[in-house]
Amino acid sequence: MLRYVTTNPGKVREAEAYLGEGTVNRLDFDYAEIQATKLAPIAARGAREAYRKADGPVLVDDAGLFIEALDGFPGPYSSYVEETLGIDRVRAVAESLEDRRAAFRCTLAYCDGDGFAASPDPVDRGDRVAAAAAGPADADGDGDGRMGPLPVKLFEGYVPGRIVAPRGDGGFGYDPIFEHDGETFAEMGAERKNAVSHRGRALEKFAEWYADR
Ligand code: IMP
Repeated sequence: MLRYVTTNPGKVREAEAYLGEGTVNRLDFDYAEIQATKLAPIAARGAREAYRKADGPVLVDDAGLFIEALDGFPGPYSSYVEETLGIDRVRAVAESLEDRRAAFRCTLAYCDGDGFAASPDPVDRGDRVAAAAAGPADADGDGDGRMGPLPVKLFEGYVPGRIVAPRGDGGFGYDPIFEHDGETFAEMGAERKNAVSHRGRALEKFAEWYADR
């Protein structure tokens, strides 16, 4: 059984709505999030850690809200910002901006311990913190007896929108203040959100690849 690695039950509901009930099992595991400017190295690193914990196939879901006029902030720090500022203050910051465009991004990282044509190493070598965390390619020191990091396949999804006053009571996280095509994500059901969302798009790419596996 594929384990969907997240501490967030909302993400699992959406994954199940997309992939089918009973196809994934939630692994409530809080992997260490490295500091990086992109989601890919965080998700890849998390997938390797979660695979070692689960000892079976895992899919890590790392997502974030990227506000255009703030150069993508909070991006990979979205969870920390939701916990500290909260979505009302994020909305207040956005209200002070002329340009309220934003996007959600999601990276799914799959690891099952086997080899496959993995995505290129997602570490941004310009990002010294992430590169140091990933370690040299031939000496990852993870104790799995391999001479390199475990292969990880990445699937990315993106959805544009804008920050608005909160509407709707569905979804989770920033959903009430994120509007796409006239509706906030909190006003859409899981199915409609999946049809357009960052997670839905990443899940679509994953499902297509996984079906052949
Ligand atoms: P993480 O991927 O669990 O680290 O989530 C990052 C942050 O983005 C958390 O604050 C989540 O609540 C939020 N987030 C992730 N995906 C979504 C989504 O689909 N809608 C609303 N907020 C989300």
